[in-house]
Amino acid sequence: MQGELAKRVVRWQKEHGRNTLPWQNTRDPYRVWLSEIMLQQTQVLTVTAYFERFLTRFPDVQALSQSSLDDVLSLWSGLGYYSRARNLHACAIQVVQTHGGKFPQTAELLQKLPGIGRSTAGAIASLCFAQRIAILDGNVKRVLTRVLAFEADLAYSSHERDLWDQATKALPIQNLRQSMPRYTQGMMDLGATVCVAKKPACGICPLNDLCLARQSGAPEKYPVKTRKLKRSAQSLWLLWAQSKDGKILLSQRPIPGIWGGLYCFALFDSRDALEQSVDQQYRKDLEDAPAFTHVLTHKDLHLHPVRLTAPARAVKAADGRWFSLAKTLQLGLPAPIRKLLLLGEPTG
Ligand code: ADE
Repeated sequence: MQGELAKRVVRWQKEHGRNTLPWQNTRDPYRVWLSEIMLQQTQVLTVTAYFERFLTRFPDVQALSQSSLDDVLSLWSGLGYYSRARNLHACAIQVVQTHGGKFPQTAELLQKLPGIGRSTAGAIASLCFAQRIAILDGNVKRVLTRVLAFEADLAYSSHERDLWDQATKALPIQNLRQSMPRYTQGMMDLGATVCVAKKPACGICPLNDLCLARQSGAPEKYPVKTRKLKRSAQSLWLLWAQSKDGKILLSQRPIPGIWGGLYCFALFDSRDALEQSVDQQYRKDLEDAPAFTHVLTHKDLHLHPVRLTAPARAVKAADGRWFSLAKTLQLGLPAPIRKLLLLGEPTG
């Protein structure tokens, strides 16, 4: 049945998979790498625009390696998960410095580069170099656990390793040059368009007669994963300071930490701490803007912007700099800060 699964996925991908995305119809590892990193936590539709802009600005890994991290973060602004952008830059530098500007051609070597995990390494190696190697992102986990009725709890890394073994066994056996890229793309496409989390379209699935989860009548039960992410919450006060001539006070966030490397208003754990950073005679001018919540992966951030229009000397900000609004919008900014600056108020 395993050889059969791969054959069906390959055939289905040709006819029904996604074949016109901007990072397809190429075996250029730079493009495939860039798209895979962007697609790790962001939807195809959003990625498309960013992908084109990145390529125009940085047409190859050499160009990206020669840019500043600030430039990369600025172009990444709005995509979120900024460690991806920092790793992207570090990876480009490493590819140039240690691999002579050419991406290595095996998943094993790719996985040693910053930001490239096992599944991304598998995707690049199979899509670009036709290596017979598995991927296991969220979509593929769903497809495989359902076809196999894989009951084990993926919260345990030993079970995840078992699923990797199953994924490897299911790979195509013949004609790898053509079949591997198609199979990898096909598994992703099936998970994204047919074998979706809620109400999977089993009626049109090429694997429906092989699928043990479907036979059990409860495909949505898979994948099984018990431990939920522990979410936390944090309140932050933002000093939204503007000088009389319209300049805005921003400082670069430390790495690691929330929004590491991005430019941001000064952040404080309490309103009191924020007040302390403002010269006494200007504290009466502080104005509370509406608070709002910004949701990160592991954390809800309750953000409290406090506005101040005052001369630069009113604020004690050791590492802060004043930027014009136009210049500010060219910087790498956290999404909620960008929205505040553009709209003048929070949008939630
Ligand atoms: N998600 C991750 N990789 C992808 C790809 N190559 N095409 C579409 N969606 C994806």
